[in-house]
Amino acid sequence: MTTLLSLRDVWVEYGDKVVLERVDLDIEQGSFVSVVGPSGAGKSTFLRLVLGQEGPTRGQILLDGIPLTAECHPDRGVVFQRYSVFPHLTAVQNVAFGLECDQSLLLGKLFGRAKRDALARATEMLAAVGLEHNLDVYPAQMSGGMQQRLAIAQALIKHPRVLLLDEPFGALDPGIRNDMHTLVTRLWREHGLTIIMVTHDIKEAFKLGTRVLAFDKRRIDPHAPNRFGATAVYDVPVTKKTQAEAIAADLAGGAAA
Ligand SMILES: Nc1ncnc2c1ncn2[C@@H]1O[C@H](COP(=O)(O)OP(=O)(O)O)[C@@H](O)[C@H]1O
Ligand SMILES: [Mg+2]
Repeated sequence: MTTLLSLRDVWVEYGDKVVLERVDLDIEQGSFVSVVGPSGAGKSTFLRLVLGQEGPTRGQILLDGIPLTAECHPDRGVVFQRYSVFPHLTAVQNVAFGLECDQSLLLGKLFGRAKRDALARATEMLAAVGLEHNLDVYPAQMSGGMQQRLAIAQALIKHPRVLLLDEPFGALDPGIRNDMHTLVTRLWREHGLTIIMVTHDIKEAFKLGTRVLAFDKRRIDPHAPNRFGATAVYDVPVTKKTQAEAIAADLAGGAAA
């Protein structure tokens, strides 16, 4: 097993509010890490750290043993619950935009051959997520599930090694969510991805993950709620048995819904 990401005594503080404290984790390449925990436990903050959108107040984050730099990076793609696609761009433009953004730093906007290549790659990626018949459709014309497929295509176009999912299926109906589980599991395998997925749904966490982390506060000061931060209080490997139980519970829940 190779360690892809390491967090070493990571803290995040906003003013005198401690959000995360003493986070120490190694994340293996190719693993699928589910992150659960109460609202406000710093799960999204944790993803922003890994994305390099934000630096820790203290501690260190290493990717392949090298400290993360806080800049736009093709190593990491991200999908949020909503709003990660641009409403004024069609599906294929949304996906190609990732590449355009990347290269525009050097070249300005893509044109000619580079643009055709970008559109061809975007089309291929849309086919991989099952949107091959929706290339010229705008997000507003898509269902929630289709928008999330689009967001995943957009995140994967740069072939990131780490895919970060922040409650990506929370707003979807159970049947659609199940289709998305199948899709994400397939993409994870086919692209050799490492995935970190925040979810509210513990069944989903165990069904998809190879490991489940629970973020919460270890200690609480009743007089000063901001004094202590959350950390990974549980770190559970998913076994075949726990996964099978989660899938069974998910099926039962889906049937009842
Ligand atoms: N930029 C910020 N400035 C101040 N507080 C913040 C900022 N970002 C997040 N927080 C606070 O950090 C805590 C954790 O937020 P978040 O990571 O979004 O939690 P979760 O995703 O687990 O619900 C919340 O109390 C939130 O208000
Ligand atoms: Mg969040």
